[in-house]
Amino acid sequence: MSKMDVGTAGREDLSLGREIAERINALAAISEDPANITRIFLTSEHRAAADLILGWMRQAGMAAHIDAIGNVCGRYEGERPGLPALMLGSHYDTVRDAGRWDGPLGVITAISCVADLHRRGLRLPFAIEVVGFADEEGVRFASTLLGSRAVAGTFDEAVLGVRDMTGVSLGEAITAFGLDPDHIGKAARVRGELLAYIELHIEQGPVLEQEDLAVGVVTAIAGATRLAARLTGMAGHAGTVPMRLRRDALSGAAECIGVIEEFCRTDQAGLVGTVGYIHALPGATNVIPGQVSFTIDMRAPTDMHRRRAVTDVARQIEAIAKRRDLALQIDVTHENRTAPCAPWLKAQIADAIAAEGFRVFELPSGAGHDGMAMIDIADVGMIFVRCRGGISHHPDEHVELADADAGARVLLRLIENFRPQAGGK
Ligand code: GLV
Ligand code: MN
Ligand code: MN
Repeated sequence: MSKMDVGTAGREDLSLGREIAERINALAAISEDPANITRIFLTSEHRAAADLILGWMRQAGMAAHIDAIGNVCGRYEGERPGLPALMLGSHYDTVRDAGRWDGPLGVITAISCVADLHRRGLRLPFAIEVVGFADEEGVRFASTLLGSRAVAGTFDEAVLGVRDMTGVSLGEAITAFGLDPDHIGKAARVRGELLAYIELHIEQGPVLEQEDLAVGVVTAIAGATRLAARLTGMAGHAGTVPMRLRRDALSGAAECIGVIEEFCRTDQAGLVGTVGYIHALPGATNVIPGQVSFTIDMRAPTDMHRRRAVTDVARQIEAIAKRRDLALQIDVTHENRTAPCAPWLKAQIADAIAAEGFRVFELPSGAGHDGMAMIDIADVGMIFVRCRGGISHHPDEHVELADADAGARVLLRLIENFRPQAGGK
């Protein structure tokens, strides 16, 4: 913790942090592969995790259910039933070979805060809702934020027909999970029902650690564009086709990847680009690759900068494909604009951080979050919690117990002192 910390910092009683860490470990044990953490949207592990979260919500005094896209939704009534709600949430799906904190920390911390209110018999002048969003990472169906989009009423029904790598459509996966895709519309909330959406999440970067701070106030969530590219050339014999006569799709993709890296590396304004997935066909040592699919993820501090960069990169890829006589298909699978956090929520988060004895520090989020979808129906605020070494989307992702506790204290203080925006929407 920061040497400047006063208040609850350095407290002996880390009971909230301890409960959170235990539950983080319990969720981490639910994985496709016991050797690592992989909990992909609408799989049997995902279902088991949803059921565990559902039970924790009920123990915390909430009425809870799983909605038609797989979000786990809990509601703790206020001083009287039916009041508008402060919504808290994060996601419980993971990337492949994930860390244990990305997503679950926000869900579990919110539940622990409600459980604390419940133990004290405290009802507030508003309801609290906690949502464990089903799909933030977008690993299975390319499109991200499917859970929060359903809640925000912006779910695109066309996505139900999208198939995963094994040929299962989203609609079929929802049915196999035990839910009815025809009911997704019922998950949607409207603006007046929610006072705000607040998410607590690990920072996933090194800034809070550098600042020697356990928590921070998020200013905005950076926008992102994801593309799916496919290059088609001609498969052939690796021994007989001279180099000058080849239409090698994988060599073309390699050149594209080099161009993307160079373009982003030489950008002076924070552009980042990643090719995180590539698949070559037919996939044999002695066959020239005839077709290659790969993804591109691009982010920048401003939407205008990102959009221009995506256009420039796409033009360069087109030029490479043309020169190599490869057919190119390039599709935008996901486009999220930058989501600014609401000034009135940043101010209340800052007050809660200061009241817990921490220096108030603001930072942007380079990672995407469910708030990017929720902003369509509610003002959004975010609290970041320090993670060790800034490591995330990696099994070494780690949050110290004291920092998990600090995050929970800040969230609890925020909830208890929460003032809906005057003349709110
Ligand atoms: C989610 O973690 C993202 O930023 O891609
Ligand atoms: Mn996350
Ligand atoms: Mn993530």
